[in-house]
Amino acid sequence: MTTLLRLDSSLRINDSYSRSMGDYFAEQWKVKYHDGMIIRRDLTLQPIPHLTQETLNGFFDDSLHSGHIGLSDLLIDELYSCDEILITSPMYNYGIASSLKAYFDLIVRTKKTFAYGTNGIKGLLTGKKAYLITALGILQPASQEKNAIEIQVTSILNQLGILDISYFPMDGMVDPEQAAIKIQQQRKQINQHLNQSDYATDKTDYRKIY
Ligand SMILES: Cc1cc2nc3c(=O)[nH]c(=O)nc-3n(C[C@H](O)[C@H](O)[C@H](O)COP(=O)(O)O)c2cc1C
Repeated sequence: MTTLLRLDSSLRINDSYSRSMGDYFAEQWKVKYHDGMIIRRDLTLQPIPHLTQETLNGFFDDSLHSGHIGLSDLLIDELYSCDEILITSPMYNYGIASSLKAYFDLIVRTKKTFAYGTNGIKGLLTGKKAYLITALGILQPASQEKNAIEIQVTSILNQLGILDISYFPMDGMVDPEQAAIKIQQQRKQINQHLNQSDYATDKTDYRKIY
């Protein structure tokens, strides 16, 4: 059975473009994987605490069970248990929501999700696929291939060993006409993507570029 972990991070529970596209993705994903299981983690309704020094101490000393190390263990186990990950993310002040950042801060953990090897950092969460849905208020300049969320999330996922990432960006969402176009475009992309496994998939390792 294929398992999808869905992470939502918009502050808007209703009327959120990223959540709504996440709902659409989940529906289509269930069409593809009839017996698939979706685990939902709502980072707005169930906020993850910020990384603290106590938690960080626990990351580097297994004998310490300090700070939020128990929650970090739980989130990492959840991540290992899934085959695919769906992240829905609004752009807030040129980056990801602080709730999503707090999540990443607890799961990017040495010896658990990545290790230092002879050739630098080695991700330990290999063989997983990720989907990233983003919503931006303003239009992204045509010269930018990836938006700031995509660049940051790609770097983090790559560090964990997740290289197979598909992107569904919606920009210019403050303008209802533009929003309607982007919603239609990305729904189409999702349909095509889930029916043709190679569609719109970017396997670039952005650590090598940025
Ligand atoms: C606090 C805040 C900061 C924002 N910062 C940006 C920004 O830097 N760039 C941008 O394009 N849009 C920005 N926006 C607009 C949101 O990205 C846009 O409303 C998006 O649709 C939010 O996602 P959602 O519809 O899933 O809630 C911001 C919105 C809020 C509430």
